[in-house]
Amino acid sequence: MTNRPATDPASSLLFRTLQASPANSLWLIDENISQPLPAALPHIQAITNRFDLFQHLQQSGWHSRFSDFDFSHLPRHSLSRILLRIPKEKPLVHYLINQAAELLEDQGELVLIGDKSEGIRSYSKRAREKLGGQFSETKINAGLWFASITYDAQFSAPDLDDQNYTQLRELSDKSGFSFISKPGLYGWQKVDQGSAFLADELAMLLNQSLPISGRLLDLGCGFGYLSLRSSSADTQLTCTDNNAAALRACQANIDKQGLSAEILASDAGDTLQGPYDTILCNPPFHSGFATNSDLTSRFLAAAARLLSHDGNACFVVNKHIALEHKASSHFGKIQLHADNGHFKLIHLSQPRH
Ligand SMILES: C[S@@+](CC[C@H](N)C(=O)[O-])C[C@H]1O[C@@H](n2cnc3c(N)ncnc32)[C@H](O)[C@@H]1O
Repeated sequence: MTNRPATDPASSLLFRTLQASPANSLWLIDENISQPLPAALPHIQAITNRFDLFQHLQQSGWHSRFSDFDFSHLPRHSLSRILLRIPKEKPLVHYLINQAAELLEDQGELVLIGDKSEGIRSYSKRAREKLGGQFSETKINAGLWFASITYDAQFSAPDLDDQNYTQLRELSDKSGFSFISKPGLYGWQKVDQGSAFLADELAMLLNQSLPISGRLLDLGCGFGYLSLRSSSADTQLTCTDNNAAALRACQANIDKQGLSAEILASDAGDTLQGPYDTILCNPPFHSGFATNSDLTSRFLAAAARLLSHDGNACFVVNKHIALEHKASSHFGKIQLHADNGHFKLIHLSQPRH
């Protein structure tokens, strides 16, 4: 269950603003939006980096794209308005403000909506410094703000620091493990400690040597860490994630390591057929600003649906998550393999199809 109200005030305000937006408007959507999304508006296009939202947009007829906010198909200075409910990640907000300066026509408007606790007031100041036109801010209620910033084509300012948002880069962790990543992925600069624990224990957990042979699914792959630690060129590997930035980074890592994989967008595996002999998963528990414990259950249901009859699924979760209980309706056999005081590793088999 998500702890965000079904329609949060910022999303409602954004939906109302969309209704009144002119032709050639663009709506930028990251995960921080509540559903249901509004009915399609034919004169407005939408871009999202979340595949679940893209599917909803498509189903309701929106003119929409799924990408890591790639704007290369749009002519420069062609948009009259850009609307954004501010995302959680600073490099992404700064990148989108920088892009607004490339995409808006002269006197075109950037609309930012968000809560004070999300940093809306400093972001709107930064946008004013970058776009150089007129500026207005309205306090809607206790925390909620609406900001309008116009672009002045005569004005020029350096880009805001977006940490080279679009750039894939090579990083390494303290053990020397190197990987390709970028802003836009959750925890993009580090190896997830739960995933490292799972990878270290995997051979013991599965009672087989690595690399894994057969059909392997990396469910919620991020930049592909679990695949990189467990696969060889012979593994029949599938990696899937909901996040466009994750899919880009994962593809780069697979290529760099000389693996071959199907890399597919999905909402908790919904576009996949299976079956897979092994499924590895460190499930998400965040959706935008909200925690979402329902996501864990959806990942368990997906793993059960996609696992072969005699296959093995390996999950790592924070030790306080009642994964065993949630898994009991999906798997006949549930074993706690290890607990390191922070994370626990659960071995699931005998899926109930
Ligand atoms: C805890 S991270 C683990 C990432 C990666 N497996 C690793 O070990 O580094 C969870 C991943 O689930 C992805 N995710 C979140 N919601 C999802 C959804 N609805 N469907 C598929 N993947 C999702 C996130 O984008 C993130 O990459």
